[in-house]
Amino acid sequence: MMHEQLYYGGDYNPEQWPEEMWAEDVRLMREAGVNFVTVGVFSWALLEPADGFFDFGWLDRVLDLLHENGIAVDLATATATPPPWLTSAHPEILPVDRDGRALHPGSRQHWCPSSPVFRRYARRLADAMAARYAGHPALALWHIGNEYGCHVNACYCAVSESAFRSWLERKYGTIDALNEAWTTAFWGQHYTCFDQVGAPRTTPTYVNPTQMLDFRRFSSDELLECFRLEKAAVRAHSADIPITTNFIGMFKPLDYWKWAQELDVVSDDSYPDPLSPDVAVSAAMTRDLMRSLGGGRPWLLMEQATGYVNWRSVAGTKPGGMMHSLSMQAVARGADGIAFFQWRQSRGGAEKFHSGMLPHSGTDTRTWRNVVRLGSDLARLSAVASSGVDSRVAIVLDWNSWWAAEGEAHQIQLDLHRNLLEWYRPLYEGNVHVDFVHPGGALDGYDLVIAPHLYPYTDEDGQHLADYAQSGGTLIVTWFSGHVDENDQARLGGYFGPLRPALGLSLDDFAPLPEHRSIAVSSDRWGPLTGTQWSEYVRLEGAHPM
Ligand code: GAL
Ligand code: ZN
Repeated sequence: MMHEQLYYGGDYNPEQWPEEMWAEDVRLMREAGVNFVTVGVFSWALLEPADGFFDFGWLDRVLDLLHENGIAVDLATATATPPPWLTSAHPEILPVDRDGRALHPGSRQHWCPSSPVFRRYARRLADAMAARYAGHPALALWHIGNEYGCHVNACYCAVSESAFRSWLERKYGTIDALNEAWTTAFWGQHYTCFDQVGAPRTTPTYVNPTQMLDFRRFSSDELLECFRLEKAAVRAHSADIPITTNFIGMFKPLDYWKWAQELDVVSDDSYPDPLSPDVAVSAAMTRDLMRSLGGGRPWLLMEQATGYVNWRSVAGTKPGGMMHSLSMQAVARGADGIAFFQWRQSRGGAEKFHSGMLPHSGTDTRTWRNVVRLGSDLARLSAVASSGVDSRVAIVLDWNSWWAAEGEAHQIQLDLHRNLLEWYRPLYEGNVHVDFVHPGGALDGYDLVIAPHLYPYTDEDGQHLADYAQSGGTLIVTWFSGHVDENDQARLGGYFGPLRPALGLSLDDFAPLPEHRSIAVSSDRWGPLTGTQWSEYVRLEGAHPM
């Protein structure tokens, strides 16, 4: 896609260091085989030190230096964190949480996704960056924002609430359609106009589940709109350079199927817990998701840690070989580049105890030796760049279903990620390639499609899955599937809707199991099995137990 070689590098934040050190940085980058760095992610306050006054001098010198040394640049639009002058002049851009508390400046990402003021300033900076650097020879990729939604994925301020109302009005047209979809006849929530509808703030007890579901959809869309605005500003100056923003793995708040359609290149930040026995399998699962989000195109591992992070209560480091093997795992699962947060470990600030490629203790360290070794091994792998992965098995993942299935007031507190991993694990252990698909996505070419906990689906998606099964595909549907439609309203008469004939059964009743309780299941075909979490009384309507 992007380069004859695999990309190798990391976030480079030279503004944290005296300029005299930059020459040493690039010398060491070359020693490590670095050919790609991300620049400017948190540089707004330095690039625009006062309202409308831009200071690009230092960034010009950084980009020139990198280019002279053959290092390609993933250039951020620098909008990830608004500068102090902006929040002082416009405190209304600060986000508000569910309890009505404003989140203050002093860390990062303190901006309301719906704020027209924030959007105007962010767009202007993206425009200025693109106007200045579109033709720079170091430029290989645009990096819009940073980890959208990482800290603030929904805002409950008055501006966001009114944007939510407009979003609902566009979706439903009339307030009666909303009343119907949200089942507001229950608990006397009937609305007579859109102005009465609020964001789902902290309530005495369960908030209306469909209101919450729509608010999650809205919040994902609202951040996506921020991305789109910056993307349009960049595109106006830079027609050919690909655009990305960095995803955060299996990240519940954002509907990445929608997001991925807007990206030229999918990129991911990946921090599996090195102390977890599941570190490799859970990393593999997100790698497969990233490749799938891009429709099989090569993707980038944009951030990972060489060792420990600063944000776990016990932040273990990667033992010998783990950094190498997790990186190679990403390449094997379709990544065309491996990068870290960050090049030089910070001296101060909240992330000084986050590992870097170049650690506090310098180059006479295990980390540096691992970094150099990985760079040299990746340099010898250019033949595998963009080679793709051929999968015959797909797992269905839908954010709407994730949001609804993990909602409140159910018989069981479902953990979708954990259960997905249990479906993924035997495939991983058996070296079976897996793609992820949207429930409405193309299924031909897959011998097996697994749809874990697809709790709501639309009629069309349910029919699409049924068609796949009825035309000879093997479809696995699990418990807590097909109970509701896209408005979180029960599918009456036995559940499943359009999938019911394909399954050949309906549901009579549920019997969830408490933690630590299991039941024995006997199966002629599979032998003795153990069930945990859930059981149910089914009515057979043509299905054969095995
Ligand atoms: C990401 C972020 C980086 C850095 C890193 C630490 O959330 O994009 O800037 O904070 O995590 O793990
Ligand atoms: Zn807001």
